[in-house]
Amino acid sequence: MERQTIVILPGDGIGEIVMKQALRVLDAAGFETDYIYGDIGWKYWCREGNPLPERTLDLIKKHKIALFGAITSKPNEEAKAELDPSLKDKGFVYSSPIVGLRQHFNLDICVRPCRSYKGNPLNFIRRGRNNEIEEPFIDAVIFRQNTECLYSGVEWTNPPQNVWQAFMTHKKFAENYGNVPPEEVSISARIFTRKATTRILMAAFEYAREKNYPSVTVCEKPNVIRETSGLMWRLAKEIQKTLFPEIKLINTNIDAQMMWLTKNPEDYGVIVAGNMFGDIVSDAFAGLIGGLGFACSAQFSEDGTAVFEPTHGSAPKYADYEISIVNPVAMIESACMMLEYIGKEDISGRIRKAIADVILEGKVRTYDMLRLKGSPDVISQGAASTEQMTDAIISKL
Ligand code: NAI
Ligand code: MG
Repeated sequence: MERQTIVILPGDGIGEIVMKQALRVLDAAGFETDYIYGDIGWKYWCREGNPLPERTLDLIKKHKIALFGAITSKPNEEAKAELDPSLKDKGFVYSSPIVGLRQHFNLDICVRPCRSYKGNPLNFIRRGRNNEIEEPFIDAVIFRQNTECLYSGVEWTNPPQNVWQAFMTHKKFAENYGNVPPEEVSISARIFTRKATTRILMAAFEYAREKNYPSVTVCEKPNVIRETSGLMWRLAKEIQKTLFPEIKLINTNIDAQMMWLTKNPEDYGVIVAGNMFGDIVSDAFAGLIGGLGFACSAQFSEDGTAVFEPTHGSAPKYADYEISIVNPVAMIESACMMLEYIGKEDISGRIRKAIADVILEGKVRTYDMLRLKGSPDVISQGAASTEQMTDAIISKL
């Protein structure tokens, strides 16, 4: 098989730290490939006025597969203030490189697996019928539509006249808002297209079939949001009936889902949702399996571009510790998703097993796993450093 070049985007803060650890693990597991580093993040904003330089887009376009750490974003005022003096007042405007990547490559499918590791002290627990402690095994994979919905960016405060007029043609708008001054109205558009909705649904169903999940749960609110959520639900029924009759289709409303997931999270497998509800439900499930230290993700586009990254950000407050304390597992698991994507399931399986062994053994735990408040002192309180956690995983390989 042809050797795949992987674009490495460490980014900022702990993104750089956990990336280094993930690459150590890939190396130790015998993954042979060519890495090429891409520039992304705050430093390139400050130096060049662009946190996602064109050369980085070119690299990803060429090699298709990127492993991404995390970046730092700051509000506009700070962004302006930290820009190199030679670039000031030249019209540079900061915009998030994550959103930039997503839009540029149309990474419309986001996958966030949330699987509990046996022995993780952060696992969700509940009381059983006889008051005993139960620790349900959670294995949920959330398929989040990544480009549309309320995050489309189509929004107004004080909508222009023609937009207002268009809304006034809707009976409910005219009745309920017709007398409100436009300058007192903010509108954010929730947009779903048939194509993107079909793509996320198909991805979810195909995954369920391939990995033997018995059901796909659509988590929206079609009884109230009849057009957009309704579109997803209607298409889901059609796709299930015609193409995936062996897979059970479940409809849950996002609000009820947020309640059910702490009562019986083991009932859910593949979940599919629009952008915003997918964002919410994936964070909620991640909380049940240990939170940001364990939450990995992948984003895919129609043309096969794929970006793998932990869900967490650059955690600047921990970035400059002499001994890093953050949990590298989310980043390492993101690398495992990358391996699986390029057909290296054997290597990723071994890495996942090594992580599972370390967690089950329980001797080496990062500060988050010990429920400590992050500070340099956590090491003296028995927490493993980022590097020690990685060492432990490597030694299990
Ligand atoms: P964050 O995810 O960086 O950190 C929030 C908190 O979560 C941390 O203070 C820490 O307590 C914990 N945490 C995060 N990663 C951890 C790890 N690997 N191990 C243990 N604990 C961990 O989010 P925050 O503080 O809201 O944002 C910091 C910066 O990151 C901002 O500039 C933000 O814009 C950016 N960000 C970037 C993302 C990305 O690159 N995908 C996603 C979220 C935020
Ligand atoms: Mg989120």
